[in-house]
Amino acid sequence: MLSLRLTDDAELRALEPWNAEEFAAHINHVREYIGPWIGMSHVVTDTESGRAVLQRYIDKLARDEGRIYGIWVAGKLMGGTLFRTFDASNGTCEIGVWLDPDAAGHGLITRAARHMIDWAVCVRGMSRVEWRCSPENERSIAVAQRLGMTLEGVLRSEYPINGTRQDAQVWSVLASEWPSRK
Ligand SMILES: CC(C)(COP(=O)(O)OP(=O)(O)OC[C@H]1O[C@@H](n2cnc3c(N)ncnc32)[C@H](O)[C@@H]1OP(=O)(O)O)[C@@H](O)C(=O)NCCC(=O)NCCS
Repeated sequence: MLSLRLTDDAELRALEPWNAEEFAAHINHVREYIGPWIGMSHVVTDTESGRAVLQRYIDKLARDEGRIYGIWVAGKLMGGTLFRTFDASNGTCEIGVWLDPDAAGHGLITRAARHMIDWAVCVRGMSRVEWRCSPENERSIAVAQRLGMTLEGVLRSEYPINGTRQDAQVWSVLASEWPSRK
């Protein structure tokens, strides 16, 4: 996949180390909005740290353990999605997302995540696709619901963001459920 069209002017495509400068500028621009929910936004502060994150994902891709994509709207990087984890031998993976608030509210993330779940389940034979988010992250919860996922429970104090530990809701959709929920 070189590029997947989400709408007339939006596309989903691989985010790679050569995109580091654009990626870092984008994260600097959206940090205040995504910062409470996305740990990576505090790690990527300049081109070098952006390249390090994208290189880490290229290395994960080479090991078949993760992937990262960007969402470009009218040619400008406006957000992204990732397989934060991808465990083909166990048949499980987790999707993460973020978006510039200027691009929110148009279904771009829901569309992109549907493509990713389709690929994970139908092409890669995944049994379970997870979505983890803070119980306070209403917009992320709304995406999980729109994707037809089921809330399984809450992992308490599961991960730190900017030094503060967060609870994580765990949502999932199973391969057997996906055809009727997508
Ligand atoms: C989570 C986040 C990516 C969700 O973005 P979003 O724009 O709300 O989600 P979508 O792109 O799927 O858009 C959904 C909205 O578009 C509308 N929409 C329009 N056309 C649509 C379509 N074809 N399909 C789905 N939704 C559509 C929906 O009704 C919804 O509108 P609403 O905001 O009025 O309820 C965004 O809020 C964000 O970046 N938050 C900060 C980072 C973050 O929390 N990431 C997740 C961590 S777990």
